[in-house]
Amino acid sequence: MSEQIVLTGIKPTGTPHMGNYIGALHPLIEMAKTRKTFVFIADLHALNIIHDPNQIRQHTYEIAAILLALGLNLENATLFRQSDIVQVSQLSTMLMNVTPKGLMNRAHSYKAAVEKNMASGADVDAGVNMGLYTYPILMAADILLYNTDVVPVGADQKQHVEFARDIAGYFNHTYGEIFKLPEPVISADAGIIPGLDGRKMSKSYDNIIPLFAPESELKKKIMRIITDSKLPDEPKNPDESTIFQLYRQFANADEIADMRARFERGGMGYGDAKRILFEKINSVLSAPRAEYERLMSNTSELDNVLASGAARARAVAEKTYERVHRAMLG
Ligand code: TRP
Repeated sequence: MSEQIVLTGIKPTGTPHMGNYIGALHPLIEMAKTRKTFVFIADLHALNIIHDPNQIRQHTYEIAAILLALGLNLENATLFRQSDIVQVSQLSTMLMNVTPKGLMNRAHSYKAAVEKNMASGADVDAGVNMGLYTYPILMAADILLYNTDVVPVGADQKQHVEFARDIAGYFNHTYGEIFKLPEPVISADAGIIPGLDGRKMSKSYDNIIPLFAPESELKKKIMRIITDSKLPDEPKNPDESTIFQLYRQFANADEIADMRARFERGGMGYGDAKRILFEKINSVLSAPRAEYERLMSNTSELDNVLASGAARARAVAEKTYERVHRAMLG
């Protein structure tokens, strides 16, 4: 097993859907089969968006239950809740003092908020809280606290990981070589996962397929995928079909080649293609779905898993924080 430490965080701001599964959760589970991985639920990072503790708790359980139901390897993966490790907040406070304000001004998400305000004539910082503004510092603390080498993230998070690397560099320059410099790894491109209407699957487009919907709902959603109006006999382009794009995420190589041929040959209607897609997804996800439901009605089991993950994470966090404290305060 590689000795490199992999770390990633998942924000509990919504119920993960099939696009999240394909783009992030499934690759993470695959990675944890062979590599030492820290996986945490970034509940502190959710605070600048969600102000209802019950919602954060609910989404935290959902994410933990999904990962466990899909078979996350808990020997390699340390699964925990970000807020269970107080050292991350302490480290964040320390890192504030080596982080130039100008770096935060350049953060994409802060800049987007400012630009929106300017466009609407509002005060530049309207609606921006310090949780949003200092988000990259807390994220740097997440990454540096666990001696992380690589951070698999979506392209939208690349800048944050680069900031963590910059902040580690500023710190080391002043206080000596305390931190490793982390590298972002942009998740192997699963392509853009289309939703029901063919646009990127996203809660904000209201086009998602739930990951663990009951069978009948899953079927209904799949039958509702929008297609062009080609007749059954006509040849179809698999690369422009949402049905095929989803199918290839769940089927094996032979099945994918076979499906591609059926699209290109003509003779298969979209209704049939959707039924085949449903059967495939359902066969892959029905056992995890049952396990997910079991876990969601046994949240004390989830609490136990998160508590033992926190104990493992804390052992590492305490050591790193101790070194930082000594370097900065003697
Ligand atoms: N900011 C990440 C997101 O929105 C979540 C996150 C928080 C994270 N801390 C992290 C990801 C540390 C990787 C490493 O998706």
